[in-house]
Amino acid sequence: MADNEGNIDAKNFGVGIPQKQEGFFLKGNEHASWGIKSRLSQVFNEKSGRTVMLAFDHGFIMGPTSGLERIDLTINPLIQYSDCIMCCRGILRSVVPPTCNKPISYRFDAGTSILTSLNDQSLQDIEEAIRLNVSLLAVMVAIGDPEHEGLTVRNLTKTVDMGVRYGIPTLGVTAVGKNLTRDARYLGLATRICAENGANVVKTYYCEENFEQVTNACPIPIVIAGGKKLPERDALQLAYSAISQGAAGVDMGRNIFQSDCPIGMLKAVREIVHNNATVDQAFDCYETYKNQK
Ligand code: 5RP
Repeated sequence: MADNEGNIDAKNFGVGIPQKQEGFFLKGNEHASWGIKSRLSQVFNEKSGRTVMLAFDHGFIMGPTSGLERIDLTINPLIQYSDCIMCCRGILRSVVPPTCNKPISYRFDAGTSILTSLNDQSLQDIEEAIRLNVSLLAVMVAIGDPEHEGLTVRNLTKTVDMGVRYGIPTLGVTAVGKNLTRDARYLGLATRICAENGANVVKTYYCEENFEQVTNACPIPIVIAGGKKLPERDALQLAYSAISQGAAGVDMGRNIFQSDCPIGMLKAVREIVHNNATVDQAFDCYETYKNQK
């Protein structure tokens, strides 16, 4: 118990100095709760306002896809080069070391696989997410999928409600329906629907034309998925184009872990995302690391 005698008189009240009112660095999240902002600050770098997320949640619909057969051997060594990891709870609990100290973008929904109809998802327990100390709840939203659009939008809104209750932000992940093209009109619609329904961040794809319209019409940060494996330079070009047109980061999987030099790719992507490197500079970074190995 504190002594009640002999205390030093309190006099440093800063009279005349207004209390600092700090804004929040991430678009659209100024009015979120302290817990949500704190977790978003673990995922996004305050200085650059961006993030490099490493996605390896693919197994939940694809099984042991190339590069993810042995996550302990291929992914664990990469984690230290990322700002955040995106995965499912099974891999987290069985393979990812809890000592890695990276914020987790947690795959919060589960459902059908590539063998049936994708996107028939249900949600997990929020208590599990809290136990796992996650920083983002990631939920698939299948806009334009006639069978699962309603279900996945409801999943998103339920996740937002649970996340708000416990101070955990939600990442809306736009899935692409079979008959929909990944153009600015579609991506603009899908990302905006995620934002309108309360997501704090949205993950989507880059499109060649008018991607700036997608980022501008979305009131929350957008991170882009890498998609199928491309030649390394093309993947860096994709990251560069997305960032220079307003994306707040990447959430990349296959273009990292299926690369011939995953650490080199992660380092190169970081140069683009956090240091505004050009594609040439980033490619040089990748090659330098690869040739040093
Ligand atoms: C699937 C996902 C994946 O994490 C996402 O597709 C990122 O991986 P990639 O860069 O390989 O596309 O969210 O819904």
